[in-house]
Amino acid sequence: MKDLLQLLLETELLLRKSHWNIVGPRFEPLHGVFGGLYDKVAVDSDIVAEKIRQDGEKVTVTEVECKYNVKTDNEMLSATLAHFKEIQKEVNTLSKLAERQGDYGAIDLLGKMSNEYSKDIWKLTSFLQ
Ligand SMILES: [Fe+2]
Repeated sequence: MKDLLQLLLETELLLRKSHWNIVGPRFEPLHGVFGGLYDKVAVDSDIVAEKIRQDGEKVTVTEVECKYNVKTDNEMLSATLAHFKEIQKEVNTLSKLAERQGDYGAIDLLGKMSNEYSKDIWKLTSFLQ
């Protein structure tokens, strides 16, 4: 869960950067897309952080940095897509673990996240075609 939280926080930073720096003819829709995704990921990182606390652990965050130097709209979309695929992979790995452990709270939380990110991956992929 801690790795997932870190990934979500990095994704938030990427989405903020993209929301603020987007330019070009697709400014209007993409400014909205990145802003909406930021809000969604911020809610998810709070849910994941609180799940970590419910499980009796401290929330530790190492310095969050954005790996991508995104400039164009397609670079922003591609980087976001890469982050979302990474989140989806981590969510699926954690889901299998939660199933083995019988952690129904985590199974529910991760199942919802898996569906959401799957939908967003489809949307982002569609934007890039
Ligand atoms: Fe804004």
